[in-house]
Amino acid sequence: HTYVIIMAGGVGTRFWPFSRTNYPKQFHDVLGTGKSLLQQTAERFDGICPKENIYIVTSAEYQQLVKEQLPYLSDDQILCEPVRRNTAPCIAYAAYKIAQKDPQANMVVAPADHIILKEEDFKNTIRTALEATANQDILVTLGIQPSRPDTGYGYIQYIPDSDNHPVKKVKTFTEKPHLELAQQFLESGEFVWNAGIFVWNAQAIRKAFEAYMPETAEIFAEGDEWYFTEKEDAFINKAYSLCKNISIDNGIMEKANNVYVVLSDFGWSDLGTWKSLYEVSGKDDNQNVTDGTHMLYNTSNNIIKTPKNKLVVISGLEGFIVAEFDGVLLICPKEEEQKVKEFVADAKNHG
Ligand code: GDD
Ligand code: MG
Repeated sequence: HTYVIIMAGGVGTRFWPFSRTNYPKQFHDVLGTGKSLLQQTAERFDGICPKENIYIVTSAEYQQLVKEQLPYLSDDQILCEPVRRNTAPCIAYAAYKIAQKDPQANMVVAPADHIILKEEDFKNTIRTALEATANQDILVTLGIQPSRPDTGYGYIQYIPDSDNHPVKKVKTFTEKPHLELAQQFLESGEFVWNAGIFVWNAQAIRKAFEAYMPETAEIFAEGDEWYFTEKEDAFINKAYSLCKNISIDNGIMEKANNVYVVLSDFGWSDLGTWKSLYEVSGKDDNQNVTDGTHMLYNTSNNIIKTPKNKLVVISGLEGFIVAEFDGVLLICPKEEEQKVKEFVADAKNHG
C-alpha cells in the first residue's frame, strides 16, 4: 500500500533566471545528468513503490511538461492545481484523493527539486519511515544534520533516546526561523533540518488536517464524491478558490504533537539557490562550475551556466554567478544571491 506524492508546483524563484515561471527548476536538467530533477525524483522510488502509485501534484500550466517528462504516468496520476496555494493544499488534495481509493495507503511526500547523492541510503531511510507509519498514526519527517544557520529550512528538535532507535519523537518544529534563532539552534546541537520529505499513512494525515486545518480538511473531504470522476477538475477549481495559502510546515508540522523524525544522511541537498548548486556541482581546477565550453582566464570560484550555442569568454572574475536562460542574463556576486528574489520582482516591471 505504498504511494509517493511528488510536489512539483513551485516556481523556484531564487534560481532565476534558470528557474522561470513557465519552466521552473524541477523540469531542468540542473546537474547535467541528462535527467530533470523531477525525473530523478520519480526514479528514486524504484523499488519503494510501483510506478502506478506515484502521484505528481503540479500547477495546471505544467501538466504537459510532466506528461512529457514522465510519459509512463496516467492522467489520473497527475494532479493539477488551478492556482498555487503552497504545500498544505497540495498535500491535502493528493492525500485525500489517494485515501479515497485506498484507505490503507501509506504515503511518502517528496519535493521534486532536491538532489540525493546516496540513493541506497535514501531508500533504506524511507523504508524505516514506512515501517514506522504502517501501523501507527504518526507524522514522520526526515532530519538532516545542519551545517550552517540557514534560515530557509525548518528546524526540528528531537528527544534523544538511549536505545538508538532511528525514529525519534519530535519536541519542537520551527519553520524558517530568523537568523539569531537559527544560530542558537545550530549551536545547541539538538536540532536537525527538516528535509521536507514526509511519511505518514492516509488516516494519520487526514486526522492531522482535521485537527489543525479543519477548513482544508472539510474542503478536500467533500471531494470523496468526485475524485477519479470526470467532475474532479470542476470540484478542484472550486476547492482551491476556498483554500488558504499555507505550507504544510506552518499549517501542521509546527502544531502537531505526534511528529517523529528519522535522522538521515543520504547526501541531501535542497537545490534552493545558486550557492547550493555551486556546492554540489563538480568544479574545474579553479573552483569554477563550468560545462567546459566556457573560455576562462584568471577566473575562479564562479558558477557559470549559459546556453550551449553561445561562446562565453571571461577574464578576471571571482565569486560570481553568471547565468543565462531564455533571454535573461544574470551576473551577480555569489554572496549576494539572496537579492535574486528582488531582481525577479523588479524584472516583472521592467519593460
Ligand atoms: N504542487 C505544488 N503546489 N507544489 C508546491 C507548491 C504548490 O503550491 N509550493 C511549493 N511546492 C513544491 C516545490 O516545488 C517544492 O518541490 C516543494 O513543494 C517544497 O516547497 P518549497 O517552496 O521549495 O519549500 P521550502 O524549500 O521553502 O521549505 C520546505 O523545504 C525545506 C527543505 O528543502 C520546508 O519543508 C522546510 O521546512 C524544509 O527545511
Ligand atoms: Mg525548497
